[in-house]
Amino acid sequence: MADLLKRHGDVIAPVIAFDTDINAASASGLWVTDVTGRRWADFASGTAVTNLGHNHPAVVAAAHAQLDRFIHSGCIFRYDTLVEAAEKLRAVTPPAIEKVAFANSGSEAVEAVVKLAKHSTGRQGVVVFRGGFHGRTMGSATYTTSNARYRDGYHPLLGSVFIAPFPHAYRWGMDVDEAVDICLRELALVFKHVVSPKNIACLLIEPVQGEGGYYPAPARFLDELRTLADEHGILLIYDEVQTGFGRTAEWFAADHFEAKPDLIAVGKGIANGFPLSAYGGPADIVDSWPVGAHGTTFGGNPVATAAATAVMDAMGGLLPHARGLSTHAFTRFGELAERHQTIGDVRGLGLMIGVELVESQTTRAPDAKAFRHIQAYVFERDLIIIDCGPDGNVLRFIPPLVTTLEELDWAIDQIEEGLDSWKQTKG
Ligand SMILES: Cc1ncc(COP(=O)(O)O)c(C=O)c1O
Repeated sequence: MADLLKRHGDVIAPVIAFDTDINAASASGLWVTDVTGRRWADFASGTAVTNLGHNHPAVVAAAHAQLDRFIHSGCIFRYDTLVEAAEKLRAVTPPAIEKVAFANSGSEAVEAVVKLAKHSTGRQGVVVFRGGFHGRTMGSATYTTSNARYRDGYHPLLGSVFIAPFPHAYRWGMDVDEAVDICLRELALVFKHVVSPKNIACLLIEPVQGEGGYYPAPARFLDELRTLADEHGILLIYDEVQTGFGRTAEWFAADHFEAKPDLIAVGKGIANGFPLSAYGGPADIVDSWPVGAHGTTFGGNPVATAAATAVMDAMGGLLPHARGLSTHAFTRFGELAERHQTIGDVRGLGLMIGVELVESQTTRAPDAKAFRHIQAYVFERDLIIIDCGPDGNVLRFIPPLVTTLEELDWAIDQIEEGLDSWKQTKG
């Protein structure tokens, strides 16, 4: 182990952060096993990717079968796994999404879908919402405002990207409606003072902010954005890279809301671990993008798209189970919040649950130390959890959808013990 860590340090750029030092030998379902045989339950789901659990047998089988046929096309020849994955994707995405294209990562899908919005509207402006995370490449880093550290050292970023507030009601110490009113007023002021809406190609939003702290967008906020978009000929884009593929116990977060997007970007769970992402929209918009205005070498890789089809075949049947797990988890975290001053807020959708840890429920001061204590405590007891939020104090609870109720309870029991231990440590 020490040897691998040293070799890792010698050759891997330290900028790429790893959450644990586990030296993995195998991973299956919830569990990752290290080279000594010790195992942990991955409640980080490979950072919200392995929604079906690691190495889901149907996904492995589909990938194996395709490996034996061919691995790569590079857009030289056409192939069935690409078309099948696109057909499946169209069937499960919101109704407006009729045509799609594939890419390799969430960042790339976001960049591509914004390019599509600009090209099809002939406008150059982009409105994003503070606290959003959209990736790390230059365009997507410009759209990302979940934490200034993702932008530090890279200025100037892209021009004509306008940042509007997102209703972080808990952090602002107010109720949701008040926070929504403030955000709508501020957006109206952006349109009045900074940029006329006729310059705006798209509003880009995560329907549940992920990296930014697991804040679901209030339904009224999305309704108003939908109305504004329609009024001004702006395209509404949902970045469902993290919220997609069952994470919210529906196919997409959009399924929870009446306000539907014009365009969508997806990634992470789409192929349960194979590098794949996608984006799309209505046929008339996608068809208006001329041949060669965008392209890819690896996007829609045959093996990754075969895996994606298997994911989409397996996912639908798991959603009712995920809804049951979600209800149970919210109940249990709600009970814990009654007994622990450290829990300030429990929020999210489905199995995308954020538990915000604070110094006290009165001050709401973010408590990253509490998170780190609990994380280390449960790690010793075989459970992996990660954080989110700009203050590092939101426990990101994202079990795979294949988790059983017993396993869910076991994980929450570990967190409860971690909270007790933190209480004792604080004195
Ligand atoms: C909402 C959202 N968009 C985009 C991205 C970027 O995806 P990737 O890391 O695959 O480039 C992420 C990654 O966490 C994400 O959560």
